[in-house]
Amino acid sequence: MSLIQTISFPPLGDDRGSLVALEANKAVPFDVKRVYYIFGTLPHVSRGFHAHRALKQIAVCVAGKCRMILDNGKFKEEVWLDSPTKGLLITELIWHEMHDFSPDCVLLVLADEHYDEMDYIRDYDDFKQLILGRKHV
Ligand code: TYD
Repeated sequence: MSLIQTISFPPLGDDRGSLVALEANKAVPFDVKRVYYIFGTLPHVSRGFHAHRALKQIAVCVAGKCRMILDNGKFKEEVWLDSPTKGLLITELIWHEMHDFSPDCVLLVLADEHYDEMDYIRDYDDFKQLILGRKHV
């Protein structure tokens, strides 16, 4: 089973350029409750380094690119988000890291819940313990 679940967003292009429409419960497989975006990331900065207990998200670089690492506690996979038509589904209990942001990168994220710090697992050892079922964190 691959951790990388990309979703193609069909561009609605014409002679003026391109447009992508994201509708909840269609191309985006959940009700969207929150949208945030990461931009102006400084050189050599990596972000993420957490998993969520329940949150589901779709990430797409609407400009520029970055490299996403997904880790289920057993193995890791990586994918370049390098197109405004390529969404990446990040489900619950997936450790994720974003690296190698291009200077022009705008990483848009759609989430199925409001921001809740209690939903974050920010310690990798806690994440591993939770995955292995050895500890209630
Ligand atoms: P964080 O999740 O740590 O960013 P990343 O994982 O991309 O490195 O969030 C950075 C800060 O922004 C942190 O103080 C929490 C805050 N924040 C919100 O208030 N609302 C949000 O929707 C998100 C994603 C973050």
